[in-house]
Amino acid sequence: MKLKLKTVLFITSFIPVIAFKVIARVGDATLAQAKVATVVGLILAGIQFALSKRFIKHTSYLEKTFLGFLGIGTAWVYLTPPGLSSLFVDHSTALLYFALFLTTLIPQLFGYDPFTYTIAKQMAPERVWNTPQFRAINLHLTYFWSGIFLINFLSSWLGHGKPLFSILIPLIIILGVGLPVARIYPNYYLKRQFTSQPIDPSFLPDTGKELILQMPMGFRPEAAGDLNAEIQFDLSGEGGGKVALSISEGTCTVRESEALSPALTIISPADLWLKITRREIDPARALMDGLYKVKGDMNLLIRMGDLFRAPTKVRKEDLIEKEEKKMKILAIQGSPRPKASNTEILLLEFLKGAQSQGAETETIYLKEREIHSCIGCYTCWAKTPGVCIFKDDMPELLEKVKGCDIVVYATPLYNYNMTSLLKAFQERLLPLLDPHLIKMGEIYRHPQRYKMNRKMVLISTCGFPEVSHFDALRHVFHHIERSGQTPLVGELLMPGGELLKQQGMKENVQGVLQTAYRAGIEVIREGKVSKETEMEIQKPLVPPDTLAEMANLWWDSHLEGITQGKPVQGKIEDMRLLLRGMAATFNSQTAGNLKATIQFEVTGKQTGDWFLSVEDGKCTYHEGKANAPNLTIITPSEVWLAIANKEMDGQQAFMEGRYKAIGDMSLLMRIRSLFGSERS
Ligand SMILES: Cc1cc2nc3c(=O)[nH]c(=O)nc-3n(C[C@H](O)[C@H](O)[C@H](O)COP(=O)(O)O)c2cc1C
Repeated sequence: MKLKLKTVLFITSFIPVIAFKVIARVGDATLAQAKVATVVGLILAGIQFALSKRFIKHTSYLEKTFLGFLGIGTAWVYLTPPGLSSLFVDHSTALLYFALFLTTLIPQLFGYDPFTYTIAKQMAPERVWNTPQFRAINLHLTYFWSGIFLINFLSSWLGHGKPLFSILIPLIIILGVGLPVARIYPNYYLKRQFTSQPIDPSFLPDTGKELILQMPMGFRPEAAGDLNAEIQFDLSGEGGGKVALSISEGTCTVRESEALSPALTIISPADLWLKITRREIDPARALMDGLYKVKGDMNLLIRMGDLFRAPTKVRKEDLIEKEEKKMKILAIQGSPRPKASNTEILLLEFLKGAQSQGAETETIYLKEREIHSCIGCYTCWAKTPGVCIFKDDMPELLEKVKGCDIVVYATPLYNYNMTSLLKAFQERLLPLLDPHLIKMGEIYRHPQRYKMNRKMVLISTCGFPEVSHFDALRHVFHHIERSGQTPLVGELLMPGGELLKQQGMKENVQGVLQTAYRAGIEVIREGKVSKETEMEIQKPLVPPDTLAEMANLWWDSHLEGITQGKPVQGKIEDMRLLLRGMAATFNSQTAGNLKATIQFEVTGKQTGDWFLSVEDGKCTYHEGKANAPNLTIITPSEVWLAIANKEMDGQQAFMEGRYKAIGDMSLLMRIRSLFGSERS
């Protein structure tokens, strides 16, 4: 509607000068006719000006120019002596072109919008108005128009205002050259600016998601400076997914997840983004045509070409890097519940971080391997140096250890130490050592049998909240470091590790995963994990008392058989644990100075009364009934658990009467924002 009004006002803006020219008769007007013409034109231009101001709140350059021209013209013909006023009468058309020439030439020189902006803004979507391409195109076209008006001015002036030179030739130039160029030029500019050389598809991954996952490899820290931002890709269709790029402190990391607060969100079909990257489609044009959408900081979108190297270059450099320094990481995973373990969650993120920096990784799940315990026969030292008597999986694994740059030992803490699986593996590394005792520095040790340049990383999770549980394990690894000449370049030790799989802790866990990912990046880029990253992993997700309480509730629920059937990984199955978890993840920032009590009257499989009290920025969990709760939720346990496990939509369940709420409904609406806070 607004657009239509703007178009109408654009067309009517020509009426004052057309009326002026009709009354003043081109070329041979008398002074009397010119006087009438300028006044009529001026009145019409004034009306046009007022209408634009009133209905679209601003006036265009054309309206201003015509109003100014007719104002000056009126003053000229009325106030100057006849000799001078006839000059305006004879050359009014030429002067009009000259006024347009100045209008198209001057504003941008003083930092104002160029002449064509108003019209271009009516044609292009708002999201592109701030792009440099939009500005450049308009600037070029504005100068182009100033050239056209200059030619028209000269034609009209030198042709002494004759219709051929004042109307016909200028009209031919405007309609035959000006308008077609104005129409064609934006596409031409975008095509020319965009490299016409498409990128060999074999240089790129096959799916949009993989492409984004590889973007950190082409990241240019020098272009990023101190940029700190997250870019969310929401790619639809085959090969799509949600991927978040984080740029901070000169590094770029990528995660298959949703960014918490992205500065820029790109919503695109996955195959379109592949085509854009292959340079088969012009990104600016595709955006203007609405083929993909962006939300947030447009400047960041514009900077992307600068922030990430073109895939061709990435590919070439990558190939060279592959030859020169592709790091090989061998992860030895020692949990007896290998792929369903807490240790695995941390290890996976760490490896993803390392992969994002070009590292090659392989994980050995010890539980799935055949590894005999060492029997201490020393055959590998004496009779067959370097070769063990057991022909199990270990000879193959020894070769892998010999060939890698970093060994990651990932183990849950069992009795303050590594698991027996990992212990057996480490004992069987004996063939890699030479039996002699050599003094190096202050200590005696067995030298390495084979030349090596390996480093180690230790990853572990434990059940208790205290980091001190890892003391013995760390001690062992520091011994291995010293006597095995294998620098320990990172320790990722996470207490309270069982929380990693708690559904209700998902948001808190995100932070831990990001830290593990960062550790993987650091170990490749810096050669070691920073102390800050190590400390970050050790931070408790919830206070120790809360962890203990939650753990006890969990065990009680399983001991008492409250949970029906076999427990399902990652699901909350117990109301008390759920409510205690809600209290633990209470978001004090969102709560502000809220003081409230929420009572849960639970029926169904897990009947009971529990309530949460919010006061002084804290939330506490209680059994029983509260006095005068602000909100009472009456629900079968199955319903509330299904909502918590995201199997049921809370609002819809309420509408369908699956649970009831009495009291402060605004509190009910706030529940999602009140619980599920960041890491404490
Ligand atoms: C046999 C055994 C011994 C354990 N010893 C400890 C211990 O000494 N200290 C501790 O905090 N947790 C201990 N735990 C708990 C585990 O370390 C903890 O649950 C860990 O997160 C499990 O990791 P996973 O899922 O990778 O196997 C022990 C668990 C088991 C089964």
